[in-house]
Amino acid sequence: MNNPKVKLIFNGKEEPLELPIISPTIGNDVIQIEQLQEKKVYMYDPGFVNTASCESQITYINGKQGKLLYRGYPIEQLAEKSDFLETSYLLLNGELPDQDQYEQFSRSIRIHTIVHEQMRQFYNGFRRDAHPMSIMVGVVGALSAFYHDSLDINDPTHRKIAAHRLIAKMPTIAAMCYKYAIGQPFMYPENSLSYTGNFLHMLFGTPSEDYQVNPIAEKALDRIFILHADHEQNASTSTVRIAGSTGANPFACISAGIAALWGPAHGGANEACLKMLREIGTPDRIPKFIKRAKDKNDSFRLMGFGHRIYKEYDPRAKIMKESCHDILEQFNASDIPLFQTALELEKIAREDEYFIEKNLYPNVDFYSGITLNALGIPTQLFTVIFAIARTVGWISHWHEMISGKVKLGRPRQLYTGKKERDYVSSNNRSIKK
Ligand code: SDX
Repeated sequence: MNNPKVKLIFNGKEEPLELPIISPTIGNDVIQIEQLQEKKVYMYDPGFVNTASCESQITYINGKQGKLLYRGYPIEQLAEKSDFLETSYLLLNGELPDQDQYEQFSRSIRIHTIVHEQMRQFYNGFRRDAHPMSIMVGVVGALSAFYHDSLDINDPTHRKIAAHRLIAKMPTIAAMCYKYAIGQPFMYPENSLSYTGNFLHMLFGTPSEDYQVNPIAEKALDRIFILHADHEQNASTSTVRIAGSTGANPFACISAGIAALWGPAHGGANEACLKMLREIGTPDRIPKFIKRAKDKNDSFRLMGFGHRIYKEYDPRAKIMKESCHDILEQFNASDIPLFQTALELEKIAREDEYFIEKNLYPNVDFYSGITLNALGIPTQLFTVIFAIARTVGWISHWHEMISGKVKLGRPRQLYTGKKERDYVSSNNRSIKK
């Protein structure tokens, strides 16, 4: 049917309003609602549960089938066959790179891993026990001070260099957070290493000893980066898009995305989930936590469970669960009981009417914490790891938006406040007790 439309009849009185329907490549149709302005009505959708905020070609999620595609490629295939830099190229440019393109891209990332020497001063302003995400928000935003004036976001080459700088510098800035917290000297990037190997070297290496990157840990962490790289218009990506729609520079936009990711309902769930599993401890204590999670009067939620879009198993959680046991056996067998508790928690929850009826499954954060912990990543750095990976997703969406027709993001509201009224002088105000 050409130009399908939907007809809105306003309480049966006036002429129905016909609104165009636009069909995607895959997924739900969308109703274009611009003409609603004529009728002086807004669509009301708190949390944007049913609202498409933009058109995008980067990532697609089918929540019912538990499917995730980066530029059309299933996450399972990328996690198994690709690496994080190749996946980053794919997200940014839309196609997998050939050998030449891959070499050029990796080289461009490598030469931008170092940060301006003066950036080291920023860390001294933080307490040693500052949460690393608070430092990431500050230091990544401060990159604007070093590059903002050399940046014309309407120039595609400037956009590309900004994207490469951010992808390259996130691991360096993140590792510096950790070194600052433990009082060890910052490590300079070692560009002969892979992207992920370099990060591990900056995190765990010291100037006084040679650090050998463990290839199994490198591969496991690189896969975790792939799994976290992008995820449609999630809260932090939407934050980056809104910030970018004002014309703010990409460094400030990514800093805004880091701030949004920090929340426990979003990227902060991996840290919260490991803490919850530790608090549960042994399987016999699971029923108590399940009861709390189901209690409407208790704000406790099962961390790492549930998702706005996945009403099936999060495919990333599946991949994480499959590799978790191997990694524990290699690096941290003492946490295998914790993994057993997580498996038992998942089993009990998935047999419980409440979780079945609400379609609550483990999400990407449920098994990632145990895996990261086994790799020796400190708990407070879990969401920082998520931010390193998600930077390529954020900057790909920013680039996609800025390359197109940018519309300032400015939602309307349902106003239920006071009607217009006149000012009352203080001696005439009777304060209601
Ligand atoms: C990420 O958007 C993305 O794509 C995010 C992400 C990405 O890659 O960017 O996938 C990464 O953020 C994953 C989610 C990490 N967060 C958590 O694990 C925190 C625990 N999960 C919940 O807070 C919750 O599931 C959300 C926030 C993730 C999703 O919440 P929604 O979609 O807003 O759903 P909801 O809160 O309206 O929940 C629907 C119902 C509610 O019950 P009712 O009010 O309808 O009776 O399910 C309940 C909720 O109370 N519910 C849970 C629950 N999650 C939802 N109850 C107990 N435990 C949970 N974990």
